[in-house]
Amino acid sequence: MKILNKILFLFVLSMLVMSAAWSASEHAYEKNQFGKVNIELNNKASLQRGAKYFVNYCLSCHPAKHSRYKRVADDLGIREDLMIDNMIFTGQKFGELMTVAMKREDAQKWFLGVDPPDLSTHVRAIGPQAVYEFLKTFYVDDHRPFGVNNLYLPNTAMPHVLADLQGLQRADFHVEPSTDGVEHKAFDKFETVKPGALSDKEYEQVVTDIVNFLAYLSEPAQLIRKKVGVGVLFFLGILGILAYFLKRNYWQDVH
Ligand code: HEC
Repeated sequence: MKILNKILFLFVLSMLVMSAAWSASEHAYEKNQFGKVNIELNNKASLQRGAKYFVNYCLSCHPAKHSRYKRVADDLGIREDLMIDNMIFTGQKFGELMTVAMKREDAQKWFLGVDPPDLSTHVRAIGPQAVYEFLKTFYVDDHRPFGVNNLYLPNTAMPHVLADLQGLQRADFHVEPSTDGVEHKAFDKFETVKPGALSDKEYEQVVTDIVNFLAYLSEPAQLIRKKVGVGVLFFLGILGILAYFLKRNYWQDVH
């Protein structure tokens, strides 16, 4: 019985510590405060732009080891020569997997011991909305090694790779009165401190395109599945009508 009590005590204690740590988080913001990403897997133009941004801005650190350039080109309707000329920078071949030239040890050394995750699998785990918030909530913070912090992923090891496009923003916080005695800083708003090459609306489109592409990349079969799905429903519809008339035919002599 004593043991059981102890376990219960430890459990309650760990819950309390966890909730204190949660409320001490200085980056809290409201769910969907930065909008909801609009995933459009049938928007080929958006997917193509997303693929272009991905190879230019992300693939130098993040591999997509489950995807081949060729598969992406076929799925998104990108011509082979355009893909080879404009989208393969690693000296790889058209049929190869989208891996990174960077060595694992180098990646760890540069990024505070954190490996940039493989985005084809990682995005499936965290979901597109998380990536959307991640890319929109970088803000200036001189205490961080790369000079930026992030609201969605506090103290992240990733630099703000889209800073040239978005510019830099400052985050304002206020201290909230709390009952547990732990200081709680809540997020107020962003303010631009250095404009980027794009307007807010254009940056929003770039982020949406990247996230759209990553949503596709995390499950390429979606494109085909959706097409097959429509076909199957259509087939079932026809079958249903036939079955109905067959039934009427069979039963018309039974009284
Ligand atoms: C200079 C290298 C580098 C580049 C370029 C880069 N990242 Fe990252 N990224 C990282 C590192 C390092 C991490 C691990 C961060 C951490 O755990 O704090 C990371 C983490 C992530 C995560 C995981 C967030 C989570 O919830 O765990 C996502 C999503 C991501 N990056 C997306 C992108 C996208 C999209 C691009 C291109 C626009 C990009 N990254 C470009 C280094 C990079």
